[in-house]
Amino acid sequence: MTTDFLEYLMEDPLEIERQERKTDPGAVLAQAQWAGISAGMRVADIGCGPGLTSSILLDAVQPGGQVVGVDFSAERIQHAKNRYQRDGLFFQQEDFFGDLTELGTFDFVWARFVLEFHRSRAAELVAKLSRLVRSGGVLCLVDLDYNCLSHAGLPERVNATIQDVVKGLETNSDFDPYAGRYLYEHLFDLGYQDICLDMTSHHLIYGELDEVERYNWERKVLVAAKRSGCDFNRYQGDFDAFAKEFTTSFKKSRRFTYTPLISCCGKKP
Ligand SMILES: C[S@@+](CC[C@H](N)C(=O)[O-])C[C@H]1O[C@@H](n2cnc3c(N)ncnc32)[C@H](O)[C@@H]1O
Repeated sequence: MTTDFLEYLMEDPLEIERQERKTDPGAVLAQAQWAGISAGMRVADIGCGPGLTSSILLDAVQPGGQVVGVDFSAERIQHAKNRYQRDGLFFQQEDFFGDLTELGTFDFVWARFVLEFHRSRAAELVAKLSRLVRSGGVLCLVDLDYNCLSHAGLPERVNATIQDVVKGLETNSDFDPYAGRYLYEHLFDLGYQDICLDMTSHHLIYGELDEVERYNWERKVLVAAKRSGCDFNRYQGDFDAFAKEFTTSFKKSRRFTYTPLISCCGKKP
């Protein structure tokens, strides 16, 4: 099946840098340990980006474990190989909607910040990933809810335009700002056992803006908002005027932004 959607909403020459800068290794490790990752496991990191998360997962399965990172970006897979490849860590350039049977089966399949980019095909993708999990193995899905939507303390037209942008992304780019709330039903519908859910904060931004968040949110605006199909009518169609007012007001200490992170894991029957 093909779609008219952009292949990856955040595709951009600075995407490797954005993903690496915003990844918190301690948080990734804690999420994977919560889901039961342990020494000796064979792990698939689906939508692995530039490979940092796969490298963190490899540490978590030592001794004796193995991680295969999969992403369709040739550039990010090449970067992952150059920067992170070592014993037990493999990277493969694949479209995860394609045939993944050659990857074999895994004790632990992990997909973080992936379903949000495939709203109309999320259930299909989870069913596909489930085929990679051995019987008794774990499937762990991690994604955001109200993604990019919860802000206070910004000028009204900035906040209203953000809501328009996200609507545009849902319609034009298959983005799902509510991907997190559906994780449970994906595993439930596939008959997973011992399903566990967790919810924490991914963004919890108030007071002075730190450099990592500043960079991440500016990239989101410059890449995704620009592609959203939004007409920026509150700025007379002037995207740059919106980007400037967003950047200025988002830096101010009065702004409060949060995004819930939902993790869901279960055992394949
Ligand atoms: C936001 S990044 C998530 C990276 C990493 N999982 C993390 O937790 O930080 C999403 C990744 O999914 C990849 N991706 C999106 N659609 C894909 C597809 N159809 N096949 C393979 N990779 C895909 C993108 O290339 C991108 O690197």
